[in-house]
Amino acid sequence: MIVPRVLAIESSCDETACAVVEDLVVRSSVVRTQIDVHARFGGVVPELASRHHLGAIAPVVEVALAEAGISRWRELDALAVTEGPGLVGALLVGVQAARGLALGTGLPLFGVHHMEGHLFSACLGDAQREAQPFVAHVALLVSGGHTELVVVEGLGRYRMLGATRDDAAGEAFDKAAKLLGLGYPGGPVIDRLAQDGNPRAHAFPRGMAEHDSFEFSFSGLKTALLVQLERNGQPTSKAALHDLCASYQAAIVDVLVRKARRAVASSGLGRLHIVGGVAANRGLRAAAEQAAAADRFTLVMPPVRYCGDNAAMIAAAAAARIAAGVAPSVELHTSLPIDDPRMRVP
Ligand code: KG4
Ligand code: ZN
Repeated sequence: MIVPRVLAIESSCDETACAVVEDLVVRSSVVRTQIDVHARFGGVVPELASRHHLGAIAPVVEVALAEAGISRWRELDALAVTEGPGLVGALLVGVQAARGLALGTGLPLFGVHHMEGHLFSACLGDAQREAQPFVAHVALLVSGGHTELVVVEGLGRYRMLGATRDDAAGEAFDKAAKLLGLGYPGGPVIDRLAQDGNPRAHAFPRGMAEHDSFEFSFSGLKTALLVQLERNGQPTSKAALHDLCASYQAAIVDVLVRKARRAVASSGLGRLHIVGGVAANRGLRAAAEQAAAADRFTLVMPPVRYCGDNAAMIAAAAAARIAAGVAPSVELHTSLPIDDPRMRVP
């Protein structure tokens, strides 16, 4: 079988990204983040995101082509683009740019579900060869917009075990950082500050931890932090801030790992993939490794550079769809769940 060489575009939130991937080998992966644009607002401003995608998209594609050593479009086999879920204006920029390229080059264009892209991030990078082919596993998808436990039976065959009832795990990090005046995005900074803190300094609630279901809830945790800050004020020393971050992070990690562990055990699949921006979290990675060693399941986490939004994962997902004989098509959607029947591969 000829391995498709795919150029993909990702613009669903606040990263404008383009990548060229061939046989799960990343030839180039360019990510231009808009963090600076949104940081002062404490979160992504959709209108600004769209405008900045518009300015960044063409240069990002050019750099991705150059870094992959591609000088002619016919050296590629296909184009791919994130068609959703995400911010509608942000998605529109990527989708329309990709449509324009498809029209101009005659290359087929494949729309990719953003979360299916995250699933494929587990197949990228040198250490991840064992994740291919895309074998059946339990996936913990943890990003700024999603927190889900999904049984991945194969390409396009996803069974939702449970999702968050309110905030996503990444959102819980971001909201805490906002309350603590630590800027946006909150995950990386809380991760860093938690390194030197005591995770047992504060007893934050573990939302739905004892609940039998695979659902999550993080809004109570955020409220607990707010109440604590209203009562005691902002932490007055570095040590106090570190303890607060470590304890808050531990509450999130605890629930994620506890439920993921139970999902792996009940699935009988013996394999867990953790993907999405929050998969970069050092506390989560360490706790997941401990759980995998104790319960003896295979654990796959993408290299940190492929945890956050990128286009390499979108290209990898598209390549799998091409190999499975899926016809090229793009349909923009803003909230299609990953287990929707439309995700099925014929
Ligand atoms: O997957 P992603 O880049 O975008 C979405 O699809 O949402 O995830 C972004 C989320 C943000 O909420 C960010 O705070 C979180 O991932 N994040 C982290 C870390 N790095 C990024 N959360 C915890 N620890 C990190 N190191
Ligand atoms: Zn994402």
